[in-house]
Amino acid sequence: TTAQIGVTGLAVMGRNLARNFARNGYTVALHNRTVSKTRELVENFGDEGDFIAAETAKEFVAALERPRRLVIMVKAGDPTDAVIEEFAPLLEPGDMIIDGGNAHFADTRRREKALREQGIHFVGMGVSGGEEGALHGPSIMPGGPKESYDSLGPMLEKISAKAADGAPCVTHIGPDGAGHFVKMVHNGIEYADMQLIGEAYQLLRDVAGYSPAQIADVFRTWNTGRLDSYLIEITAEVLAHVDAATGKPFVDVVVDQAEQKGTGRWTVQIALDLGVPVSGIAEAVFARSLSGHAGLRAASQGLAGPKPTPLSEAEAAAFADRVEQALYASKIVSYTQGFHEIQAGSDEYGWDVDLGAVSSIWRGGCIIRAAFLDRIRAAYDARADLPSLLSDETFAREIAGAQDDWREVVIAATREGVAVPGFSAALAYYDALRAERLPAALTQGQRDFFGAHTYRRVDREGAFHTLWGGDRSEVTA
Ligand code: 6PG
Repeated sequence: TTAQIGVTGLAVMGRNLARNFARNGYTVALHNRTVSKTRELVENFGDEGDFIAAETAKEFVAALERPRRLVIMVKAGDPTDAVIEEFAPLLEPGDMIIDGGNAHFADTRRREKALREQGIHFVGMGVSGGEEGALHGPSIMPGGPKESYDSLGPMLEKISAKAADGAPCVTHIGPDGAGHFVKMVHNGIEYADMQLIGEAYQLLRDVAGYSPAQIADVFRTWNTGRLDSYLIEITAEVLAHVDAATGKPFVDVVVDQAEQKGTGRWTVQIALDLGVPVSGIAEAVFARSLSGHAGLRAASQGLAGPKPTPLSEAEAAAFADRVEQALYASKIVSYTQGFHEIQAGSDEYGWDVDLGAVSSIWRGGCIIRAAFLDRIRAAYDARADLPSLLSDETFAREIAGAQDDWREVVIAATREGVAVPGFSAALAYYDALRAERLPAALTQGQRDFFGAHTYRRVDREGAFHTLWGGDRSEVTA
């Protein structure tokens, strides 16, 4: 027998992806640098399907039917290059290397280009959904050459998550690095979602005066409405959890310094390069970084802040409802920014990414899966060339309905001294976008004053400069 697909790198993500393929009826070749991992997989899960355990790279490649489909599931970065270097010489034109790690899309572009010259199809494939998703159905974002999807696509469609309407959560995103780019922005949005949820939690705790258990109930209620999502659901679980050792709420015994592996940071770095304002995602990345500065935080403990105003039970409940509005409105903004970045990346690299298809495959399997994605899908269905999610009538109407509460929440947070960088950045983005005039005109004036950088006029074409140091007359630049 020969295998339809092979997986090398059998840490938990690789192992679960391999099992997922096998459970769906594919014969899966297995390979891992340390052979014991391969044996363990076959011992523990061999009855789930057909596996071919290979001990060497040669054996692994020989086990694969042609054209070969070889999935790499190793740590992003140098390990990925090392594995490619090991296998590429053993492959033939038409074979496929699929990188399922969280690679930087620029690395994926570089690898795709190099392998293309050898006739090998390189597919950078974003996979979301964590360990459970890999096993039971992830959301999958493959890039690479379109023709690779002809034979790979049906297999991915089988192992992927399915949305509520049965549609598989996978599509060919676009050539070369498009898949990893979209996965990167997915993670940026994930950071923003998590930050906004964190701010909602902190407000309910500090302003409404709720306990973690009470807040868990609030999130459970929210999860039955328009905020229905995986992240809200697990937030309720985490908040309801009690530490066995101390009997305290679990959230109170965890060190409040958030870590990151870097995909959210990449989203912001690339957005800066592309000139896309992803302020909500940036605030989420900075909030994690601020939390980690233990020394700086310790040194700031004595700084002045307002005294909290206690709320009555009814006031607290009304406030919680407002926080839901603020969270929802801010979420619309985060997604607006994330989708803008995907559009900008697609334009820059000529990927022709279908934003509606992206929202569709995020409806199931991935970390940001949510009822909300159905509405984004509907927005792009209604208008494929939507300039921004905020231009969708439904979202615009919802924000219009939420904005009073959104503003009140930011005011209350400011008054009570609770940091809400996500909520306020989202609101600032919204207000700046809808403003008729921006102080950017003044910025241009300043730039022209100190550096003769020139400006454009609202009433005439061309570039102009004012002779600030002279008689202040205007000249054409
Ligand atoms: C997913 C996740 C996954 C992972 C990230 C986030 O889509 O399944 O995004 O890729 O959990 O690495 O991790 P950090 O918070 O550590 O950056």
